[in-house]
Amino acid sequence: ARVSVRGALGVQSANGERVKVQGWIRSIRSQKEVLFLHVNDGSSLESLQVVADSSFDSRELAFGSSVEVQGQLVKSPSKKQNVELKAEKIEVVGSCDAKAFPFKYKERHPLEYLRQYPHLRCRTNVLGSVLRVRSEATAAIHSFFKPSSKIKVPEENFFNIPVFLTVSGQLHLEVMSGAFTQVFTFGPTFRAENSQSRRHLAEFYMVEAEISFLESLQDLMQVMESLFKTTAMTVLSNCPKDVELCHKFLAPGQKDRLEHMLKNNFLIISYTEAVEILKQASQNFTFTPEWGADLHTEHEKYLVKHCGDIPVFVINYPLVLKPFYMRDNEDGPQHTVAAVDLLVPGVGELFGGSLREERYHLLEQRLARLGLTEAYQWYLDLRRFGSVPHGGFGMGFERYLQCILGIDNIKDVIPFPRFTHSCLL
Ligand code: 4AD
Ligand code: MG
Repeated sequence: ARVSVRGALGVQSANGERVKVQGWIRSIRSQKEVLFLHVNDGSSLESLQVVADSSFDSRELAFGSSVEVQGQLVKSPSKKQNVELKAEKIEVVGSCDAKAFPFKYKERHPLEYLRQYPHLRCRTNVLGSVLRVRSEATAAIHSFFKPSSKIKVPEENFFNIPVFLTVSGQLHLEVMSGAFTQVFTFGPTFRAENSQSRRHLAEFYMVEAEISFLESLQDLMQVMESLFKTTAMTVLSNCPKDVELCHKFLAPGQKDRLEHMLKNNFLIISYTEAVEILKQASQNFTFTPEWGADLHTEHEKYLVKHCGDIPVFVINYPLVLKPFYMRDNEDGPQHTVAAVDLLVPGVGELFGGSLREERYHLLEQRLARLGLTEAYQWYLDLRRFGSVPHGGFGMGFERYLQCILGIDNIKDVIPFPRFTHSCLL
C-alpha cells in the first residue's frame, strides 16, 4: 500500500507491513554495510528513515532527489524513531544535481536566503512547518466562518509596480506539490472574458488541486468525481432545506437530475470520439464540429445529453489547442496531450485539468517554441531538481453551484457578480 510518511511513522508496532513511500531525500548517509536515507513528503515535519543494504546503487540517491521506496515497515532499533523502512526497492523518480541545487545538505540557510527561492524553499523544514501551520489555520478559519462571503478589491498597483490578477493558481500549486505532494487552493480568479454568457464571470472562485506522483489521468478523474459527489452529498445532508427550496422554486425536476448524476459513474470519452459523435449531429449546431477545433458550449451540452445527462470526461485533446504545460501523449500524427475536461448537465465545462509535462527536455522544447524559456526558468527548475509525474485540475465553483442547484445564470450564485463592463459593487 502507498502510505504517507506521516502514516508510516504513525504505525505503533510495525511488524513487516509492505508499503510504498514517495518523497524527497532529506539526508543520506552510507556506512560500510548499510545505507541510511531520510525521506520526507511534506505530510509532516518528520522524515522516514529508510535502511538499505549498501549494495543498492546509490549514485543517483542525492540530497533533493525524489524517490519511491518499497519495503517493509519494521521496529527501529534506534531510540530516535519507532519505525523504519527496510528497503527492498529504491527508485529514483527525479535526480537532483547537488552542485546546482541551491540548498546544501546539513546547512541551515537564513530565511532571507530562502526567500530568493520561492519555488523551492517549501522543501526546507522551516518553510514546511510555517506552511503547514498556515494550512491548519486556514482550515480552522474556513470552518469558523462557514458559510462566508468576501469582497475582494483587485489591486491595480502594488508597491508602485504593475501587478496582474491571477487567472489560475496552477503554476504556484505545482511549486507546492513539489514539496507537499498533494495540495489545493480555493480562491478568487480573474479573467477579462468579453462574454455576456450565463456561465462566465470576470471574477470567479476556483478550487484547484495538484497531485504529485500521479500515475494516470484515470487517477486524476477519480479525484474530480469524488470531489463533485462528496461535496454534493455533504451539502445535501447539511442544508437539505435550502437545496430543496432552490430545486423546487428555481429548477423543478432538479432533485431527480442531481440524484441521477450522483448515483451513476461518470463517463469517459476521448476528444476524438467526441468529435465523431458531434459530426453525426452537425445539423444541430451553429459551429461545425471539426478535429483540431475547440468544443463550443452547444457541443458540450449536446455531448452531455448524448451521454444520458451523466457528467462526462473528455480526454486527450489536440496538443495545438492546449497550453505548454500539458503532458505530451507522443501519439503520432493526431498529436494529443493528457488533458481532461469534465462536462456536466446544464453547464458544459465544469473542470479543466491535465497531467503536467514533467520531462525537462520536452517542456524546454515547448517553451522554446513559444519564446518563453527565459521567463519560465523557475518552472523548468521544478523539472531539474527532483521532478515527479504530477497533475491537477481546476473546478469553477460558481459553475458547480449552478450544476447542483440547477441555476441557469452564473450571476445568481455569487454575492457580487463582476462581468464584462459591469462591476456594480
Ligand atoms: O479550464 P480552466 O481555464 O483551467 C485552468 O485554469 C487550469 N490552470 C486549472 C488547473 O488545472 N489547475 O478553468 C477551470 C474551470 C473551468 O472548467 C470553469 O469551470 C471555470 O474554471 N471557469 C470559469 N468560471 C466562471 N467564469 C469564468 N470566466 C471561467 N473561466 C473558467
Ligand atoms: Mg478549460
